[in-house]
Amino acid sequence: MTASTLDEHLAVHRRRVEDALAAALPEAAAEGEGDCPERLAAAMRYSVLGGGKRLRPVLCLMAAEACGATWREALPAACALELVHTYSLIHDDLPAMDDDDLRRGRPTCHKAFDEATAILAGDGLLTLAFELVARGVEPADSAVECVRILAQASGPSGMVAGQMADLQAEDRAEAGRDGSAAELEAIHRRKTGALLRAPLEMGAVIARAPEAWREALARYGRAVGLAFQIVDDLLDVEGDEAKVGKRVGKDSGHGKWTYPRFLGVEGSRAKARQLAHEAVAALAPLETRGGRLRELALALLEREC
Ligand code: IPE
Ligand code: IPE
Ligand code: MG
Ligand code: MG
Ligand code: MG
Repeated sequence: MTASTLDEHLAVHRRRVEDALAAALPEAAAEGEGDCPERLAAAMRYSVLGGGKRLRPVLCLMAAEACGATWREALPAACALELVHTYSLIHDDLPAMDDDDLRRGRPTCHKAFDEATAILAGDGLLTLAFELVARGVEPADSAVECVRILAQASGPSGMVAGQMADLQAEDRAEAGRDGSAAELEAIHRRKTGALLRAPLEMGAVIARAPEAWREALARYGRAVGLAFQIVDDLLDVEGDEAKVGKRVGKDSGHGKWTYPRFLGVEGSRAKARQLAHEAVAALAPLETRGGRLRELALALLEREC
């Protein structure tokens, strides 16, 4: 057997996720009871199938495999994570939020369609995600636990909380009041960190992993989650729009609280590096089973998109 590189490993998992997402999304249909309207299906497919790194689903597949399950067993949960994530991006880009016109290298959903359709496409993706978990994760007690993890991570104390706090911080900054790196950390842990930790826990649940492994993966996800948003903030400062696929230089223009604003570029890089090393250390209980995840935590520091 030839050992694959991390990139090859990720590419194979991404392909699996792409195929499963395409199959899970509604097709445009004649409009009748139980059918998804053509325009809604088109907007959902446009946003989900138009690129994206698929990091959250791939993390879920990798966590499940690290704990001894097959990637196939984790595929419905992995897709659900990507649907929730994509919904969060569609809503994040709306004029009432970040007001962006470029996402994944293409016009944002509300630009390609219209605002109302974008809102409904997000709603559709969020709810479809839970249907996928309920239908596809087995046995039933694992499905229930995955629903709980996903709801908690994305809901009013997780991602949605972080998005609310992020907008309130922007208002505060515009009113001339500044915050602290500690307050920013609390925002980032919720708006991005929560939905990056969830795949690790869901993978562990699907594999019925021992508690020590689940806890190790959760600690890994918590560290990687914050590091990921720090790098996102850095890419807004020094990223290449063509590679990142979204507008850059917007955060400072909007007075956003970001890591570079509080710690500077070098300080932010150092913080991300420290978190990646924390993530690697957290995997100790998994011994060699955590090899790929260790590599990934370090590779995410170098990402350009
Ligand atoms: C972008 O997430 C928004 C954040 C939470 C930082 P990703 O960088 O994972 O975006 P895609 O899915 O690859 O487009
Ligand atoms: C958004 O953070 C995170 C979520 C969508 C929950 P950002 O607003 O920084 O994400 P980008 O930079 O638009 O992708
Ligand atoms: Mg935002
Ligand atoms: Mg945004
Ligand atoms: Mg950003």
